[in-house]
Amino acid sequence: MDRLVVGGGARLNGEVAISGAKNAALPILCAALLTRETLELTNVPELNDIGTMLKLLEQMGVRVSREEDRVSLDAGGLHNPVAPYELVKTMRASILVLGPLTARCGEARVSLPGGCAIGARPVDQHIRGLQAMGAEIGVEHGYVQARTPRLRGARLFTDMVTVTGTENLMMAACLAQGETIIENAAREPEVVDLARCLVSMGARISGAGTDVIHIHGVDRLHGARHRVMPDRIETGTFLCAAAITGGRVRLTGTSSGYLDAVVDKLMDAGCEIHSEKAPGSESILIQAPSRLKAVSIRTAPYPAFPTDMQAQFMAINCVAEGSAVIRETIFENRFMHAVELIRLGAEIQIDGNTAFIIGAERLQGATVMATDLRASASLVLAGLVAEGETHIERIYHLDRGYERIEQKLGALGAQIRREQA
Ligand code: EPZ
Repeated sequence: MDRLVVGGGARLNGEVAISGAKNAALPILCAALLTRETLELTNVPELNDIGTMLKLLEQMGVRVSREEDRVSLDAGGLHNPVAPYELVKTMRASILVLGPLTARCGEARVSLPGGCAIGARPVDQHIRGLQAMGAEIGVEHGYVQARTPRLRGARLFTDMVTVTGTENLMMAACLAQGETIIENAAREPEVVDLARCLVSMGARISGAGTDVIHIHGVDRLHGARHRVMPDRIETGTFLCAAAITGGRVRLTGTSSGYLDAVVDKLMDAGCEIHSEKAPGSESILIQAPSRLKAVSIRTAPYPAFPTDMQAQFMAINCVAEGSAVIRETIFENRFMHAVELIRLGAEIQIDGNTAFIIGAERLQGATVMATDLRASASLVLAGLVAEGETHIERIYHLDRGYERIEQKLGALGAQIRREQA
């Protein structure tokens, strides 16, 4: 397994291009299942999770072609509405094929994703919503088996805000008979990007981005072209990399519009952040102070502070001036980066879903282990400021969600290299 070796001490400086959003591209790839025609996408990030999803779609009979950030999908020959355990266990977002397959084929057999490092992450809301739309659903031998002559519109209310739950049900509703209303819907920008793509395919959707989404089912969708939105979590991660190293970085191909909660916290920490708009392009310029002030955060559904940025801010608080409290309200086990940061000399106490951090003057490099995607990012951030070298093992987690991270950070002046372990 590969490892990253990160040298501490460099202030990041320069320009970095942000890739397309993993968590928008994944549901949008599944939207191709809803039509017999071709869906052409651009700004698709080159990530392991994207590769896994394309493999999953191909084994169903979807014709996929890919060239750099351009992907085209043709599900005209869809013949195998099955998502096998071997693929689903490596990527939980595979559950996103359940809604589209049930809507398009009238049946689906999708392996239950199982838990993951950050929590049990059940899919009961996805199943409940499809049942309310008339699907007969059984769970046997670890698989969700769905069947229906045709889904019918329904009023759905999810028990909690669920991003992929909202996305799955919105996609299924596009081909249902009648109107579906999803209440308590997720408001994340990735849900809005998916809705934009579906509307360009002929879907009738209103309210995406609010907590009530209306979908009027149609008989079929047609092909379309769609450019995936920029990745706001990659954007936030690179803003944190500039912040923690006291650097000055311009992030291009992205905007701060979807990151107000994160930008506010970085400004509270002492950073200057400016959005730059030019015809056809947007960027963000961040200028960090030599030492950040500690900032407390509480994660919650969009537009509040995103759970996917929690680990990165824990790293920031490990070396900031003062102490901070981090409350993680979305996942039950999303503090695994804390014990690894403590190995670097951080002062962190965990009590349930609350972490108490006292900023240290400095961290010392050590060997640490990545446990999940965003935890890996926090270890890279800490390595950028720790004295000496930090060796980060199991970085396959990182490769799932960050495109060419060592090249991008290296181009900003970071000392970082990948080693075959
Ligand atoms: C999406 O996961 C993202 N993944 C996650 O990003 C992100 O952390 C999460 O939303 C929260 O913003 C993708 O979009 C592919 P949820 P998702 O359903 O949809 C519970 C990353 O780092 N729940 O919004 O799986 C669930 O256990 C990843 O890129 C149920 O109980 O998250 C959690 O506690 C990590 N039953 C809460 O709701 C359900 O049926 C929110 O989960 C569904 C969810």
